[in-house]
Parts: sequence; C-alpha cells; structure tokens
Amino acid sequence: SAAEKSGYEYFMLKEIAEQPHAVAETLLGRLNEHGDLMLDEVRLTDQDLRDVDKVFIVACGTAYHSGMVAKYAIEHWTRIPCEVELASEFRYRDPVLDRSTLVVAISQSGETMDTLMALRHAKEQKARVLAICNTNGSTIPRESDAVLYTHAGPEIAVASTKAFLTQLVACYLVGLHLAQVRGVKYADEVAAVVAQLQEMPGKVEQVLDMMEPIRLLARELAEAKSVLFIGRHVSYPVALEGALKLKELAYMHAEGFAAGELKHGPIALIDHGTPVVCVVPSPRGRGVLHDKVVSNIQEVRARGARTIVIAEEGDTAVAPYADHLFYVPVTPTLLAPLVTTVPLQVLACEIASARGHDVDQPRNLAKSVTVE
Ligand code: G6P
Repeated sequence: SAAEKSGYEYFMLKEIAEQPHAVAETLLGRLNEHGDLMLDEVRLTDQDLRDVDKVFIVACGTAYHSGMVAKYAIEHWTRIPCEVELASEFRYRDPVLDRSTLVVAISQSGETMDTLMALRHAKEQKARVLAICNTNGSTIPRESDAVLYTHAGPEIAVASTKAFLTQLVACYLVGLHLAQVRGVKYADEVAAVVAQLQEMPGKVEQVLDMMEPIRLLARELAEAKSVLFIGRHVSYPVALEGALKLKELAYMHAEGFAAGELKHGPIALIDHGTPVVCVVPSPRGRGVLHDKVVSNIQEVRARGARTIVIAEEGDTAVAPYADHLFYVPVTPTLLAPLVTTVPLQVLACEIASARGHDVDQPRNLAKSVTVE
C-alpha cells in the first residue's frame, strides 16, 4: 500500500523518487485534443475569471514557496497583478479584497488553520477562492469556490517534497488557464507550454538519476555550521525551499537569499569555507539574469565561500566559480524549479541522515498544523 516504504529507508526518499509520477499524474487529462486546458474541478465561470483584476496567493511553509514561483508565472502569462502572502499574515493586515479578486489557497493537507482562516477572511470580503490541494474532501477545498487537486498521492514524511512539485504544476495550470480564458495568450501558445510541462516528468527522472554526487557531498557538509542558498527570479523561492528543507530535517542554520540582495547585507555572513548553494538560471532566454548570478557567485567565492552550483546542462560559464557543480536538464526558465528543487531535497535529506536524524519525523514539527 501507499503507506508502506516499499524498500526505502524513509518515506521521504520514497516520496522524492515518486516525483516524476506525481508530476505526470497532476498533468494527466488536463489538455484536450484542441489544446484547451481541462480544469473541470474549477467551478468558477469563464466570466468570473475574466473579471479577475488581482490575484492573491496564500499558503504556509513549502506551499508558500510554490506560491512565490506562481507569482512569476501568473504575472508573466496573464498580466494580472499577483501577490503572494504568508497565510498567517494575510488577514491581519486587512488586505484590499473584493469580488474581482482571486485568492488562491495552496495547501497539501487542506487542513492548515492559518490558510483556512485566510480563505475565510477572503470569502467574507467577497473574493473568489480557488484551492490547490492534495487531499480530497479536506476543509480548504470544501470551503473554496473552486478546487484544483494535485495528484501527488498521500505524503507521509513531514517535510513536503512531491506535494511541492505538484503544487508548482497546479500553479502553472492555473496561470495558463487564466491566460487562456482572458485571451492574453492564444491556445497554441498555451498548448506549447503545456507540451513543455509534459516533458517535465522525464526531466525530473533524469535529475533523480544523477543524485549520487549530491549524496557524497552531503556527507561532507554534515558538520557545517550553516549553509546559505542563493537564487534569482524563480530560483529565489527554490533557494528558500532548499534552506527550509535543511532547517526542518537537519536542524542546521540555513538561509535563502535573493542573490541580488547579498550585497545589501547578507554577504557579511560569508566566511572562509561557508557553503553557499547557488541556483543558476538558464543562460538562454533571460541571459542577463544568468550573468548576474554568475557574478554573484564570483563575489561570494572571492570572500571564501565554498560554492555548490546547480546549473543547466551546457552552462560552462559558471564552471570556473563552482567548487561543486551539478547539472540539471535544459528547461524553460519558469518551469526550472521542477528540476532545481530536487537536488536540494536530496541534499537536505542526506545531511539529516548523516547527522543521525529521523528524516520522516523531525523534532517539533507536525505534518499538518491545525492551530493558528
Ligand atoms: C506544516 C508542515 C510543512 C508544510 C506546512 C503547510 O508546517 O510541517 O511541511 O509546508 O505545514 O502545510 P499544507 O498542508 O498547508 O501544505
């Protein structure tokens, strides 16, 4: 049954390995023969979606990081302003909401109280609420106007992995659907991105096949005092997620930064030998961004950092500044978090087990937090 580890030492390892399948399942049946997105669990009318003039994404923890990625994709594809906010902060700041606001609540469990309270507040203000959720019939989807289920299957390990990747997929689908019904992107352009999405399970599988060097490095890093993570654009939330995984599992000090922000303060943390995990954007497309991250990597290395670089296959420009270099398959920029997150999950899992921790049941944490 799904509740067994099927030979894996930890549920988390099993769930990391299940990611290609989880991504494929979440995409399954979402595109018809005309290239139309089939979001039939979405019960808002197309007119409701055309009226949307602002999107708020609310979530906690790992789900919040998927929402941060979604902001880049949704604004780029739909041209609708999109904000992402920690659910626990949302209602207390009295956000401006009305019936043309779409609030997207992302939650694996569908029971997180902070997210539920944010959703209830949004509904009181007459906003439309769309839930992205992994648990059929849970409270958050029950109280939402529309639901898009992720099909990750049950996630047992406290630290979220496969649910995160499927949340990303669901967010991309919501963005594409909004773009399509609003006529911002034509059906063939949307279909092109959906086709790129269909290639992602295979790419995630390729990454999983290349994880042995990450495991070896993890053992070397097990005694580090602190690990920093940097990224820009969609790699910034990936950096935050990498740091969160390490905190949750290894109980190590870890922090993620927007690479461009380093010079405004955090670079003072860099000392001789400080491990810095650098998530590098593709050199194609937004090439300027790539070059800026490469110079950020040079800057931290010049100050003594041990650089652990995750870059796209064929990116040779970054090689001279990488103490450890790991390549991921060539992927469109907005979809890259589906591949770049995976090595960070494996890194955290391996560091934690090298430190002797129970990866599935980290101290002080619960899978689902049902108090505010
Ligand atoms: C808890 C878990 C986290 C999770 C967060 C949000 O704090 O320990 O791993 O990301 O809740 O959970 P949700 O079920 O709403 O996605």
